[in-house]
Amino acid sequence: MPRRPIAELLRQSPVRLAPMASFTNAPFRRIAVRCGSGFTTNEEIDAEALLAGNAWAAESAHTDLDDGVVAMQLLGNSTETLVPAAARLVEAGADIIDINMGCPVPKIVHRGKGAALMRDVAATARILAAVRAAIDVPLTIKIRGGWDECQPNAVEVARMAEDVGVDAITVHPRTRSQRFGGQAPWDVIADVVAAVTIPVTGNGDVTSLAEARAMMDATGCAGVMVGRAALGRPWLFDEAYERLDGARRADYEASVIAEHMDLIEDSFAPRLALLQMKKHLAQYGAGRQDARALRAELFAQPSTAALRATFASQQAHRRPSASLQ
Ligand SMILES: Cc1cc2nc3c(=O)[nH]c(=O)nc-3n(C[C@H](O)[C@H](O)[C@H](O)COP(=O)(O)O)c2cc1C
Repeated sequence: MPRRPIAELLRQSPVRLAPMASFTNAPFRRIAVRCGSGFTTNEEIDAEALLAGNAWAAESAHTDLDDGVVAMQLLGNSTETLVPAAARLVEAGADIIDINMGCPVPKIVHRGKGAALMRDVAATARILAAVRAAIDVPLTIKIRGGWDECQPNAVEVARMAEDVGVDAITVHPRTRSQRFGGQAPWDVIADVVAAVTIPVTGNGDVTSLAEARAMMDATGCAGVMVGRAALGRPWLFDEAYERLDGARRADYEASVIAEHMDLIEDSFAPRLALLQMKKHLAQYGAGRQDARALRAELFAQPSTAALRATFASQQAHRRPSASLQ
């Protein structure tokens, strides 16, 4: 298992897929890496649920398909849950453990998890130090700009993290209360870069490799995570894609989508495979004029075979050279 420093991983491949709950499972991570993403991070796994034997958490912890370095992200609010959960994920194949300190969802923050960890910096320092001591792989955190406008403490949290031995930080610079509103304030990323010596990854509103380079130039960050823009467009990580002409792009896209659907079918039980295919095919179809109608049609399909056929026939109308079969 590679135990390479994060700085080296980022130098080699600075732009990578961001973790997204119910999307960045093993099949999509593999697809993103094949398209050119650097190391990936799985969707958040609740430490308590993992320790309690929750089936979904266990399913999310699979790394079998990861042919690159994978970070496993944990949600939690205590040493008692995060330490054993991190150890279990390392045993299961995680190359890096990431602690989620940015999730803004009310039911998560009300339990003191996700972005709530940014509120009590001293308590979070104790948790991170304990996890750091318990695992022998890199430990990273993913933070927001702060809890809210009154507490924009990304720099304080980043300094604390460096002090307790965290190896790298990702910053989505909106505060918890901003959720996804407005433009991501990249200057917060620059402030964090200036405050610590460990590698910082910037995140927020990046939709192309050119924008990722612009974020690195503007903020000095060592890497960039791309989230929403990579849903339905994993080829955005591939520099070569940009140079392809229209027909070749369509063929490339169709082969990526077909491979992704095969991986989903091979990896999940039938019901989950059907749901995952619907979600991702809807993303592949997003941006089209008829995206809403296509989404409704996809979600009405009873089987993976019917889904593939529906999507392929829609693609055939639009792009004569593309096929999913
Ligand atoms: C559907 C969805 C699920 C997300 N799930 C997670 C998650 O599990 N862990 C996490 O750290 N961030 C999560 N995020 C936040 C993203 O990783 C990222 O920080 C955010 O989308 C901003 O980046 P973007 O503008 O490139 O999308 C999620 C975002 C979306 C849209």
